[in-house]
Amino acid sequence: MCGIVGYVGPRNVPDVLLDGLRRLEYRGYDSAGIAVLQADDIAVCRRVGPVGKLIEAVSPELTGHTGIGHTRWATHGGVTEANAHPHMDGPERIAVIHNGIIENHQALRARLQEEGVVFRSETDTEVLPHLIRKLYRGDPLEAVRSALQLVQGTYGCAVVFLDHPGTIIAARNGSPLVLGKGNGESFLASDPHALAALTREVVYLEDRELVRITTKGWEITRLDGAKIDHAIHLLEEEWGSGDKGAYMHHMLKEIHEQPESLRRCLSGRVVPEEGGARLGGLDLSPREIVAIRRVGILGCGTSFHASLVGAHAMEQLARIPSFAEIASEFRYRNPLIEPDDLFFAVSQSGETADTMGAIKEVQVKGGRVMGIVNVVGSSIARTCGRGVYVHSGPEIAVASTKAFTSQVGALLVASLMFARTRALGPHEGKNFGEELLKVPDKVREYLDNPGPILKAVELLTSGKYVFFFGRGVSHAVAMEGALKLKEVAYVPCMSYPAAEMKHGPIALIDAKTPVVAVVPDDIMRDKTLSNVQEVRARGARVVVIHTEGDHEAGRLGDVAIAVPRAPSLISPLLTVLPMQLFAYHAGLALGRDIDRPRNLAKSVTVE
Ligand code: F6R
Repeated sequence: MCGIVGYVGPRNVPDVLLDGLRRLEYRGYDSAGIAVLQADDIAVCRRVGPVGKLIEAVSPELTGHTGIGHTRWATHGGVTEANAHPHMDGPERIAVIHNGIIENHQALRARLQEEGVVFRSETDTEVLPHLIRKLYRGDPLEAVRSALQLVQGTYGCAVVFLDHPGTIIAARNGSPLVLGKGNGESFLASDPHALAALTREVVYLEDRELVRITTKGWEITRLDGAKIDHAIHLLEEEWGSGDKGAYMHHMLKEIHEQPESLRRCLSGRVVPEEGGARLGGLDLSPREIVAIRRVGILGCGTSFHASLVGAHAMEQLARIPSFAEIASEFRYRNPLIEPDDLFFAVSQSGETADTMGAIKEVQVKGGRVMGIVNVVGSSIARTCGRGVYVHSGPEIAVASTKAFTSQVGALLVASLMFARTRALGPHEGKNFGEELLKVPDKVREYLDNPGPILKAVELLTSGKYVFFFGRGVSHAVAMEGALKLKEVAYVPCMSYPAAEMKHGPIALIDAKTPVVAVVPDDIMRDKTLSNVQEVRARGARVVVIHTEGDHEAGRLGDVAIAVPRAPSLISPLLTVLPMQLFAYHAGLALGRDIDRPRNLAKSVTVE
């Protein structure tokens, strides 16, 4: 979603801002802009469309040493240049960029309009520069503080004042901001990824904090005025550059990185010789693990699908009553939370507002919640305090692939650890651990020889819509397959537990309806194959994802794709791979913007 960059220092600010905005492109956006302080005015340039268009529009003669830049993902007001950020006050001496939503913007706008302020955009953000102007008495920090005290909603914002070259004021409430320290220069961004090439020393702002940033460093205060000091974090080098390498798209690269990303996630954590696993980040003693009465796993989208697999594993392997729930629903149903519950919040970005809301709901009720997160130092990781980093490395494509398999991997490791502490014998634990550790090689083996993917894609793109079904953990995989094909290729898809088809959805099956059936060789295989027969009898054309060597299952498909054998709970790590490839190749065949599908954002920081 929206991205923020800011810079004060000796470098030429347009170069730093435009480079930073390029690095934030993966988050999803529809317009971009920068504001650069000049001697007599603030130069603003904004464009609808990719950052490339903004780069073309910025005059090479534009130079300066203080500035802010923004990528906007429209919420209030259409995708127009007038709605793109930065926004300015009436006399154009203050420029503001903002991520998040000002919930009371209508009331504030009405009041400002009564006082004669003329608005130039439809955005909620524009109330900020006008409010700040109204409250400005010479001290920029205090003007922003006073304005934000009147604001309800979420913000990560940055403000520059013509009167104060060499200064940026920034503030955070519910929308991430990170400060970067350089030598006689300071950086600001909504995502450490934008700073990776500039500095490794960063500080994460917390909610309701404001900062005055200068070339010498920064001064952080709370919204109520209290001074704060935050420790410097070192960005991990392993996070890497996130470039496409030899691949045409980030998505394909990330699919092919799964053997390594899974190995990073599992290695050192699964300990077959002990028949168990170790996750130091959870910091749970055996006694505390034995005392857990219920596990809740919360996430959105793909992370929710990984949570579903995790809940199956927790219950089946560790024998702890478990459930997975979509975070945005959980937080608003006033859930009961007991002291002996344990929650996991699953998130690739670590910034998803809906998941963050669910975490806060657990915490407000005295519950324990731990993060299963990819981005180190992200808001969710820090808010949870304890948890597991999945170590996928940067995931740039909007559609999540390697983060899904690593999230499932981490949840399987946690399940094994809890299981071994509670009811699982050393022999069974060792077997499960060994099977887990074989997965990275099996993923490699599959990706080297993925089967008739293009034939399947031809079938999947030939109908009006596609059904995905499976049972047990394979239903979670079916949901993930349907989500991927929808978001990357814009093909309408539905997913159901296979047995549900006959309770209604089968009415939609007619001659040639494409169906994807996820049928690994597990306890649900025979029943799912009966469901395949039922749709075939009504004319459906079926792509069967089955276990290598299970020829009977393969024969039921118009297209059959075999994946290496694995125990049922581990099978999603393999059955999901063809799903990812279907989405990628269907997107390619239909000419979609694979890495940046329309309307989507990588980091969903609004509710
Ligand atoms: C789908 C996808 C989204 C995310 C969801 C949660 O490919 O990427 O559904 O999974 O927006 O995001 P995170 O995991 O960052 O919390």
